[in-house]
Formats: sequence, structure tokens, C-alpha cells
Amino acid sequence: MLPDTHAHLDMIEEDTGQVVERARSAGVGPIITIGINIESTTRAIAAAESYPGVFASAGIHPNDTAEVTADDIDRLAGLAASERVVAVGETGLDFYRDASPHEAQKNAFREQVRLAKSLGKALIVHDREAHDDALDLLADERAGDTTVVMHCFSGDESVLSECLARGYYISFAGPVTFKNAERTREVASRVPVSRLLAETDSPFLSPEPFRGRPNLPERVTLVARALAGVWRMDPEEMGLILEENAGRAFGLGLGGAAR
Ligand code: NI
Repeated sequence: MLPDTHAHLDMIEEDTGQVVERARSAGVGPIITIGINIESTTRAIAAAESYPGVFASAGIHPNDTAEVTADDIDRLAGLAASERVVAVGETGLDFYRDASPHEAQKNAFREQVRLAKSLGKALIVHDREAHDDALDLLADERAGDTTVVMHCFSGDESVLSECLARGYYISFAGPVTFKNAERTREVASRVPVSRLLAETDSPFLSPEPFRGRPNLPERVTLVARALAGVWRMDPEEMGLILEENAGRAFGLGLGGAAR
């Protein structure tokens, strides 16, 4: 089964049970559903408790950090300890949308790096137009002591080299399938296959030929096929590699969320 390592099941309009079922019929599972604030993390854990093959992350998205309090961080820590939670995040920096002050983004990011390390769970990083600051903070906090996943990677070759030198995983979403995304595919071709992950970020970033429409976890098959194309590899072989990588990165299949 091909994993979708990053979906927002609570933002998809269709019924979650049907979405998970359709994904399974398409050969997709497990699905990691992502928390972006306390409420969404609570929903992610509820979905992971309700549907086999669904796991949760616990996080506060950089765009949701403007009013984060110490109490929120405590609540997040409590939720992140759930055994259905396989990762902390998505967290990071977003200087593109710039929805929260940079200091607030950094403080929440730092707290979540520490949380992931203390729990020994993976850290899912969102980095948009903030590569230098994000890499600096990750280095300062020694994030590499736990598993780090660069979600929907958008950096260039030099950012990639730094991430690879630090042992981070590099995750690609729908944009790697876009007709005008030669540069993204070029970057993807430089990631050792053992560090590649595939995700949908659904309901966002639908791959071709669904670009511009609401996305679904089942379409991670199209992301995987694009990565197979980049590597001139049989899609089935790429699928097995992506499954193994996700299992290793998130501790899936080792008795639930254990790692
Ligand atoms: Ni996301």
C-alpha cells in the first residue's frame, strides 16, 4: 500500500470514512492526517482512532501561531503523546503567506522541535520562503536528533544539499506533477531514493490531471508515478520504496505508532 504522509482529512468536504475507503481501493494507505492547531489536532487524533490505517500528527501551523499561548503548547504536548500520533507538526515558517508575526512563528516552531525530540517522534516542517531561518532554527535546536521531514519541499539545490547533509527526509506533493515544474523534478532527481517521501497535502495541491480541483489522498499514486518518472523507475518499485521510507520515518507498522 502506498502511503500518503500528509493529508488534511478534516478539511476535505467528503465524509472521512468514504475518503479513506476510496484511498484503500486505489491501493493507498496508511494516511497521516495533519494537525494545524489544537482543534484540528484533536480531530486528527479522533480520525486516527476511528479508521484503521489512519495516523495523526499534532501541530500548530505557522499561519496559526499569532495568538499561541503557553497553555496551547501544554495542550499540544498532551495531544502529541497519544499513541495514534506519529509526528509533531506541521510546524515551521511561512514568510510567503506571512499570516503571523515572524517571532510568533519562530517561538511556536522552536517549542514543537523540542516536543518532537522529547517524544522521539518525527517532526514535519513547513518552510515557505523562509529557508535560511528555518534551517538555522532546526540546527540551533539540533532537530536532527529526531526524524525531520521537509514537507512539500520547495527549496533549491543548495537548500536540498544542506537538508540531505543533515539526514532529513524530503517530501514531494502534487506540484512535482505540474507541466511547468521541471525545476522541482530536477531537484527531486537529486534526492537519494532512501530519503524520498510522497504526500498529497489534500485537499490542496491536486496533481495533474486534477490541478485546481480539491485533492484527495488516493491521488498520491500520481505523485508517486511522477517520482518514478524522475528516477526512470517502475512505478511499482517506487511505491515499495516510498512505503518502506514512510514506515521508517514515522515508525509505521511497528505496532501502531511505536518507534
Ligand atoms: Ni499541509
